[in-house]
Amino acid sequence: MGIMDPVRKLLSGNSAVKSMVVSVLNRQGYYNITGLDAIRHIEDFRANSGEVMARSRAQTPADVEALRKKYEEPIFGEMSIYRLLELQAQVIDPTNLYLYCGSQLTHTLQIMESMEEAGVDDRELLATTLIHDLGKLAVFKGEKWENIEGGGKFPIGDDNRPGAGLANCTFKWDHADIVHARLAPYVSKDMQWLLRWHSIQTPCEPYMDAHDRSLYEKYFKTFVRHDRTFIFYHLPKKRLDDYVGLIEEFFPKTVLFCLSMLAPLGLFADELSLAAAVL
Ligand SMILES: [Fe+2]
Ligand SMILES: [Fe+2]
Repeated sequence: MGIMDPVRKLLSGNSAVKSMVVSVLNRQGYYNITGLDAIRHIEDFRANSGEVMARSRAQTPADVEALRKKYEEPIFGEMSIYRLLELQAQVIDPTNLYLYCGSQLTHTLQIMESMEEAGVDDRELLATTLIHDLGKLAVFKGEKWENIEGGGKFPIGDDNRPGAGLANCTFKWDHADIVHARLAPYVSKDMQWLLRWHSIQTPCEPYMDAHDRSLYEKYFKTFVRHDRTFIFYHLPKKRLDDYVGLIEEFFPKTVLFCLSMLAPLGLFADELSLAAAVL
């Protein structure tokens, strides 16, 4: 029996029962429940998400090492941060039901607004937040979702030692490693830290050293409060254009990202010819 089978039964009952069930489900985060089709979609989403998470949790230290090498691959061209952020509009995370199939660009705009509404005014933290999920663009290269997102980072290394420092331990590989691998040369040390470790889960924390703890206090705690809060049903009031000033303040005009992963789609002829000219 599926988890939603009892609900399915109740929704087939009289309308008073149905509206009560719908309201309970809404409070649980099951929005847009209007009938059995919606439940089927949610069940499908959850089943797929569960399979991705299970494959992600099966990563071994050898898998992580292979992925680390993979994302050191030669880079063929340059793109603007703005364009990379725009591309997030095409990425929908299949592992997170609470994003309601919103794009990663929507997710980013929602977090930015949530931070601003809470009075966060540290521009370095805001700039890091703006680009924190760019690693998910690896899906354009055909990267498997279990190597992009699997419910956050967990320790998997046999040699991990408490207090050794996050950089000296092995954790599951995900999109945080990808954005760090590609954009670390362009950002400050503190920004690098947050990009790389923004998806750590509680079991990773004992492995932090004093440096990790200082950045955990400085940036992670505030960041995670907004990234992982269920704010994902509100309509962003701002657009990407509203963050052009922040982009110009913190990032060069273009960054070397894996253009190779985007070129096969037949996109970005301009960027390709620019890259060809540079090379
Ligand atoms: Fe993330
Ligand atoms: Fe995020």
